[in-house]
Amino acid sequence: MSNEKKKFFSHATLETNVGILMICTLIVISMAGLVQIVPLFFQHSTTTATEGVTPYDPLSLIGRDIYIREGCVGCHSQQIRMLESEVRRYGPYSLAGESVYDHPFLWGSKRTGPDLSRVGERYTDEWHRIHLRNPRDVVRESNMPAYSWLQHNSVEGENVQKRMEVLRTLHGNLPTYSDEEIAKAPEALKGKTEEDALIAYLQRLGVQGRAAAEAAVAKGGY
Ligand code: HEC
Repeated sequence: MSNEKKKFFSHATLETNVGILMICTLIVISMAGLVQIVPLFFQHSTTTATEGVTPYDPLSLIGRDIYIREGCVGCHSQQIRMLESEVRRYGPYSLAGESVYDHPFLWGSKRTGPDLSRVGERYTDEWHRIHLRNPRDVVRESNMPAYSWLQHNSVEGENVQKRMEVLRTLHGNLPTYSDEEIAKAPEALKGKTEEDALIAYLQRLGVQGRAAAEAAVAKGGY
């Protein structure tokens, strides 16, 4: 070793200089991250809508914003993972193309309550009303907070057209709202409450992409 000429850059240099080691580690991890992440921006299955999936209609769009405002994502995830236990409990696992119209996405990571990505059409609207006003009326041991004020707030004055216009930009090349749909949007909010909007959103979750996801589960297994 002592006779060897000192190399300009060797593994020993890395291992004996914490600063250089940290910088090189960061470079390697960033490159590896880019190699994994960048192709997803161009992959068909992550950039196009899953068959059947369309942009949120005006009422459920407002409902989605209420879901965000009330912090439901802090207790509920919206992503069924590719594990048999999850598929048995919640339904076919989530496909990336089911979230292309979500800005921002609400996959979440905390499950104080169950995953909601396929809760649409699992219960009646009436069940949701009772549950949102006081969860303990339907699930005795529930620790979900009550959202009883939502039924008293109207959504008629909401700037739904503006929101749809912004989303139209964010949707990029995907099929999106027409001028006519935007013009008619306020009609869909007539006489509706925040509770109605939130329920419309919940009843839509995971329904449109379900058939395609079921086919994926049947084809791919776990
Ligand atoms: C503090 C945590 C917490 C928050 C915040 C919360 N939930 Fe829940 N949620 C739960 C728990 C726990 C359950 C399971 C017991 C029950 O059904 O009430 C649940 C159940 C549900 C269910 C029934 C799911 C099923 O498959 O049976 C729905 C729907 C739901 N929550 C919607 C919402 C919505 C909408 C919001 C926001 C307005 C919200 N939750 C906020 C904890 C929470």
